[in-house]
Amino acid sequence: MKKAKCIVNQHFKLADIDERIYGSFIEHMGRAVYTGIYQPEHHSADEQGFRQDVLEAIQSLNVPIVRYPGGNFVSGYDWQDGIGPKSERPTRLDYAWLSIENNQFGINEFADWAAKAHTQGMIAVNLGSGTPQQAGYLAEYCNIDKGTYWSDKRREHGYEQPHNFKVWCLGNEMDGPWQTCALSAQEYANKARETAKILKWVDPSIELVACGSSSKEMATFPSWDRTVLEACYEHVDYISLHRYYEYEGDKLSFLAAFHDLNDFIHTIKATADYVKAEKRSDKVMMLSLDEWNVWYIKHMDTKRWQWAPAIAEDVYSLMDALVMGGLLTTIVNNADRVKMACLAQLVNALAPIHTSAEGGVLKHATYYPFMQVSNYGRGSVYKNIVLCDEVQTEKYGAAPQLATLTTFDADSGEMAFFVLNTDLDHDVELELRLEEFGALKMIERQVLTGDDLFAVNSFDAPNNVVPTTQECIEHAGSQFSITLPKTSWTMLRFRVV
Ligand code: AHR
Repeated sequence: MKKAKCIVNQHFKLADIDERIYGSFIEHMGRAVYTGIYQPEHHSADEQGFRQDVLEAIQSLNVPIVRYPGGNFVSGYDWQDGIGPKSERPTRLDYAWLSIENNQFGINEFADWAAKAHTQGMIAVNLGSGTPQQAGYLAEYCNIDKGTYWSDKRREHGYEQPHNFKVWCLGNEMDGPWQTCALSAQEYANKARETAKILKWVDPSIELVACGSSSKEMATFPSWDRTVLEACYEHVDYISLHRYYEYEGDKLSFLAAFHDLNDFIHTIKATADYVKAEKRSDKVMMLSLDEWNVWYIKHMDTKRWQWAPAIAEDVYSLMDALVMGGLLTTIVNNADRVKMACLAQLVNALAPIHTSAEGGVLKHATYYPFMQVSNYGRGSVYKNIVLCDEVQTEKYGAAPQLATLTTFDADSGEMAFFVLNTDLDHDVELELRLEEFGALKMIERQVLTGDDLFAVNSFDAPNNVVPTTQECIEHAGSQFSITLPKTSWTMLRFRVV
C-alpha cells in the first residue's frame, strides 16, 4: 500500500466560500427545459407545468444559482418571444442547436421555477444577434418596479413584483466561431462595455460577468481575456471561463483533469491581474467558471429541426464521477477568486439528472460528488499541504496523485474533507492531520469506488454507482489514518466536540 500525508491547519484559511460556487445551468438545449424541468402533461407536474420529481432532485443538490437561458442558445434568442400569453408566442428556429423553440417557457416561467427550486437566476443576455438596447429592455422588464413601458408590460403579464435578478452575463462564448454572430475580441469588448453601462444604469445593484475565453484551446486564449478586460475592467465584476473534459482513452490524464483546471484558473487570474496592474486599479477581478463538466461532445448527435430532441444526454460513469470530484476540489480550492461556478448543465443535456418523458428521474453517477461537496463544502476553505506521489500523464504532464479539499464551517463547527485517489492500482494509506481546530469527531464517511470504472446508473439499476457509507473512526482528535481505495472518491465529515 502507498502512503501519503495531508496537513491542514486552522491558521491557514484560504478564503470564505461564496455559496454561488455550487451553481448550475439550464439552457434551452435538447431536453433540459422541455420534458426536463417543464412538462405540463407529466404526472408529477404542478399547475405551472414544473416537474416535481425533477425539482426534488435539484433541491437535494442545493444549487444556489442557475444560469439561464444559455449558452449558445442565447446568442440567437429574442427574449420578447418568451413573454405574454403562451398561445401568442412564436415558434422559431434555434440556430445554436438546430432545434425548434416554441417559447412556452420564458423569463417569467424561469423566475417562478427558480423560486421553487430554491435558487436564484444568473441571466445571460444576447450579445450575438442581440443589441445592448434589447439587453437593457430585458433588465428593465425584470428589475424595474413600475412606471416604464417594459416594467408595466411585466405587470400586465401577471408579475407585479420585479424578479430582481442580481447576476447578468454579457453574452456567451463570443470568441467561438460556433456562436450566432461571433465577434472578434475588440468587437466583443466594445459591445460588452456599452451593454454593461446600460445594464448598470438600469439597475446599479446588479453584478456583471464578461465573456472570457470559452476554453484553453482557443487560438485567442488568453489575449481575448486581456483585450476584454482592458475595455471593461471598471464596468464588470467577473470574467468568465468555461472548461469541459472527456475521456479519450488515457485514464491517468482524464483523472488528472483537476490539475489542468487549476492551471487554466491560474492563467486567467494572472491575465486579470496583469490588466489590473496596467490600469493601476485597486479592483481585483473575480472569476466566474460558469460552465464546467465532463462532456462527451464528440459523441453529440444533433437532430435537425426537432422540438426537445435528446441531444448531449451523456450517461456518466464511475470514472466521470471521480473526475467531477477532482474538479470540485480545484474549484473550491480557488475560492479566493472563483466566486461563482456553474455545473453545465443540470437536467438531461450533459447533466447529472436525467428524465424519462413518460417516467421518472435518474441520477447519474456524477450527481453524488456534486451533492456531497455542494451540501457539505460550506464555510471556508483551508490550505492543504499534501505529500503524495506524482503521476506522469500524457496530456497534462506531472500531476499529484491525490486531489484534496478541506472546508470548515465555524458556525456549525463542522468540517468536510474530500479526496480523490487517482491511482489505478494501489490503495493509499493517508495520514490526515487537522491541526488546531479542536478535537474532531468523525460523523460521516462515504466512499465512491468500484471495480468497473465504466459502470453507470440506469433506470433498471439506479444505484449501481453511488457512494457507500463506511464506519467512522471512533476516537475524536486531530489525526486520522484512512485507507483510500484505488480510484476512489472519499468524503469525511467531522464535528468539533
Ligand atoms: O453547455 C453546453 C454548451 O457549451 C453551451 O451552450 C456553450 O456555451 C458551451 O459551448
